[in-house]
Amino acid sequence: MSKIALITGATSGIGEACAHVFAREGYSLVLTGRRLERLEKLASHLNKKYDTEIAISSFDVSDRAQVQENLDGIPEAWKNVDVLINNAGLSQGLDPIQNGNIDDWETMIDTNVKGLLYVSRIVSNWMIENGKGHIINLGSIAGKEVYLNGNVYCATKHAVDALNKGMRIDLLPHGIRVTAVHPGAVETEFSEVRFKGDKERAKKVYDGFEPLVAQDIAETIWFVASRPAHVNINDLVIMPTAQATAGNIFRK
Ligand SMILES: NC(=O)c1ccc[n+]([C@@H]2O[C@H](COP(=O)([O-])OP(=O)(O)OC[C@H]3O[C@@H](n4cnc5c(N)ncnc54)[C@H](OP(=O)(O)O)[C@@H]3O)[C@@H](O)[C@H]2O)c1
Repeated sequence: MSKIALITGATSGIGEACAHVFAREGYSLVLTGRRLERLEKLASHLNKKYDTEIAISSFDVSDRAQVQENLDGIPEAWKNVDVLINNAGLSQGLDPIQNGNIDDWETMIDTNVKGLLYVSRIVSNWMIENGKGHIINLGSIAGKEVYLNGNVYCATKHAVDALNKGMRIDLLPHGIRVTAVHPGAVETEFSEVRFKGDKERAKKVYDGFEPLVAQDIAETIWFVASRPAHVNINDLVIMPTAQATAGNIFRK
């Protein structure tokens, strides 16, 4: 089997675009996400287009037992993972702290922080056993700054930033590369998920400027993953040209 990339949240947006790019580059893929139908459709498409070998595993990253059971259940040959893309994540709501929806907070913390940890705990041990690997964590500019009403989402992405640094130190003796990629505004299903299906409100986020698209991030992640083995990109922030900070967007 060729090199293997395991991508969490491959059913949409950045994760799906990464699946396309890594398939194009000859990787075999383990694709995960909750929406099984989308995983099946994507796997069949990539297999036809690139003749890619693909394993799919449908689970909720925020459910510790599901993560354990599903990753344990992957056939042994597929555990020889070269690149883990910790991409599954989401934002829920945009409320001031005093009005925050506590269920939204739990979902973001459970997915963006605990989910990333559950997956990394298992896959980093496979990598240690295999003597190689690269973990690429999807952070955000929300992990580098804080914006109005972004409170808990920003806190989860600050946690990803800290975990990225911590993993890099802890995995150093094992030669495992660790990188965080922190995008600004990328037009995916992200805002639709944040606003719970309100497409109009989601669309307004990208009004009047050219946001990044998932492909921009996937190509950047490919750049990071395809550096020579002695090169580790620790931290990469990528923005639309029209965006300077989270709240500073030049709209026409
Ligand atoms: N779009 C942006 O502006 C932006 C900016 C900075 C950072 N990011 C980060 O980039 C990552 C990808 O987001 P995106 O923009 O591509 O959004 P997206 O289009 O909504 O995709 C999110 C992906 O995460 C998966 N996911 C969410 N919750 C999950 C769970 N509990 N278990 C398993 N998978 C789960 C979804 O799959 P299922 O629903 O099928 O499970 C989906 O495949 C996220 O970590 C996000 O925070 C996005």
